[in-house]
Amino acid sequence: MKALLCTRLGAPDDLEVADVPDPVPAAGEVVVKVAAAALNFLDTLIIAGQYQTKPPLPFSPAAEFAGTVEALGRGVATPKIGERVMGYVGWGAARERLAVAADKLVAVPDDLDFDRAAGLSVTYGTSLHALKDRAQLQGGETLAVLGASGGAGLAAVELGKAMGARVIACASSDQKLGFLRERGADAFVNYAKDDVKEALRRLTEGRGVDVVYDPVGGAYTEAAVRALAWQGRLLVIGFAAGEIPKLPLNLVLLKNCDVRGVFWGEWARREPAAHRALMIELARLCAAGKISGHVHAVYPLDEAAAALKAIAAREVMGKVILRP
Ligand SMILES: NC(=O)c1ccc[n+]([C@@H]2O[C@H](COP(=O)([O-])OP(=O)(O)OC[C@H]3O[C@@H](n4cnc5c(N)ncnc54)[C@H](OP(=O)(O)O)[C@@H]3O)[C@@H](O)[C@H]2O)c1
Repeated sequence: MKALLCTRLGAPDDLEVADVPDPVPAAGEVVVKVAAAALNFLDTLIIAGQYQTKPPLPFSPAAEFAGTVEALGRGVATPKIGERVMGYVGWGAARERLAVAADKLVAVPDDLDFDRAAGLSVTYGTSLHALKDRAQLQGGETLAVLGASGGAGLAAVELGKAMGARVIACASSDQKLGFLRERGADAFVNYAKDDVKEALRRLTEGRGVDVVYDPVGGAYTEAAVRALAWQGRLLVIGFAAGEIPKLPLNLVLLKNCDVRGVFWGEWARREPAAHRALMIELARLCAAGKISGHVHAVYPLDEAAAALKAIAAREVMGKVILRP
C-alpha cells in the first residue's frame, strides 16, 4: 500500500510517497481503509521535529482520519467490518491503511461524508473542550477568536455560536473575515489593519470580551488580554505566529481574570471516556449541520507538500484533506 513518509526531519518537500507492507491488526486493533486524512498546523511542525511529540522515523504525518473498517484483530467486538469510522491517532494517518486500537474509533453518521468527518477531531475537539470544559463559556457572553479562519479558530467560531455566545472573529484579511461572516460570526477585527485591543474594546462598548480563544500567540496575545472584561478568561491554544508570548501578570491581577491552558491531546489521553463522548457529540453536530467541518481543499497523497505549504502560508480556511 502507499504511505506518505517522513524519512528525515525537514520541510514538506522532504516527504515521500512509498510502498509499505499492509498493516496486520494486533489484539484489540482494527485495520481501517483510510478514505480521508486531515492535516493540521501541527503537521508542519512534526515533520520538522519542532512539535512536542517526536515520532520515531520513518513515520506518516496526519493526526486524524476517517474510513471503513476492513479487518478485526483478536477480541474486537465493535466496530464491525464495513463500518464507517473516524479517529485521532496523533500521527500516522496519511496512508492507505491504518491499524488502530478499536476503542479509539467512533462511528461516522450516515449523513456525514468522510472528508468532513476526518477533520473533526483535532480542531473541533480542541475548541469544544476549550470553550466548554476550560472556559465554561456561557450563552450571552462575548468570545473573541484569534486566527478565526484557521482550523481551530473556525471551530471555535462555530461552537461559540452554537453555545449562544456573541462571537468576534479576528483574522488577517477582509477575505477571511467575509468567510467568517458566512459562517455566523457577529463582529470582525482585521488585525492586519486594526489594533486588536482598541477594536475589541470598541466592539464591546468599552466593557471588554469575556473569553479570548488564542491559537496564534505573538503580539496579539497581550493586546487581547488588555481587552478582556473583568473576570475574563484567556484560552491558551497555540502559537501559530511562531512566538510564545510573555504576559505582564499585573494585567491578570487588575482584571481578576484567568489564563487557562488547553492541551486537548493530553486531555483526550487522560480522559478517554469524556473524549469519546465529545467526539460522538461533534459527529452528531456536523451531521446535523450545526457545525460545518468546512473543507478548504482536498489533495491526493502525492501532493501533500503543497497542502502543508498552504497551511504554513496562512492560505487555508478550515481544513485540508488528503485522500490516500
Ligand atoms: N492546545 C491544543 O490542544 C491545540 C490543538 C489544536 C491546535 N493547536 C494549535 O493551534 C494553532 C492553530 O492550529 P490550526 O490547525 O488551527 O492552524 P491553521 O489552520 O493553520 O490556522 C492558524 C491561523 O493562525 C494565523 N497565523 C498567524 N500567524 C501565522 C503564521 N506565521 N503562520 C501560520 N498561521 C498564522 C492564521 O490566521 P491569520 O492569517 O488570520 O492570522 C491561521 O489561519 C497551532 O499552533 C496548533 O499547534 C493546539
